[in-house]
Amino acid sequence: MASNYYFVTIAILALASTVLLVHASDPSPLQDFCVAVNDAVDGVFVNGKFCKDPKMAKAEDFFFSGFLTPGNTSNPVGSYVTPVNVMQIPGLNTLGISMVRVDYTPYGQNPPHTHPRATEILVVLEGTLYVGFVTSNPENRLFTKVLYPGEAFVFPVGLIHFQFNTGKTNAVAIAALSSQNPGVITIANAVFGSNPKISDDVLTKAFQVDKNVVDYLQAQFWWPNN
Ligand SMILES: *[C@@H]1O[C@H](CO)[C@@H](O)[C@H](O)[C@H]1NC(C)=O
Repeated sequence: MASNYYFVTIAILALASTVLLVHASDPSPLQDFCVAVNDAVDGVFVNGKFCKDPKMAKAEDFFFSGFLTPGNTSNPVGSYVTPVNVMQIPGLNTLGISMVRVDYTPYGQNPPHTHPRATEILVVLEGTLYVGFVTSNPENRLFTKVLYPGEAFVFPVGLIHFQFNTGKTNAVAIAALSSQNPGVITIANAVFGSNPKISDDVLTKAFQVDKNVVDYLQAQFWWPNN
């Protein structure tokens, strides 16, 4: 009898330690921020979206049909990102995955940007892409590769990365991202196109340029590519 209690105790301890491991940290946020409010009447549901009664779910909740449609690349950067995340497929809610299709004109690019909530793996279907990412401080090491159809490359979560079509033809890529809502921060847009604008005093010193250079950059239209 005593040995039975011993084994039950061991089993409970093992279970408890597993549970502790699973809950060792807070879950990652699924949106940019979540300001606390005292009264739920003024609040919205966060970290994902409300869930449908599972009995009401249907195949369409898990379906998207637009991946054969090329994006409109007539814009200043010469690329277009078609997102397929929880906004397009509600069934992705809480599942930690999404996709994009990216179209590029000859010499078009997906400019330097980061996804705060996702690692990305991109595969080229057509054309030739020069791709890369830069590691964090202090190394700021650049990793690059020229990709041909059938070749894939990984952009680790949070790191600044880009794709540039070096070929004379259009290029097409598909990418998978490890979040239902990866988020996008395009570096130029965030730094020079913020609303309202970041002070000249900050940007002249940060970029070690004159005020007229900062004013010039802030006056540009920063195409919201993603
Ligand atoms: C593509 O975008 C350009 C610029 O916004 C626009 O003028 C053009 O009508 C669009 N083409 C299509 C087919 O939607």
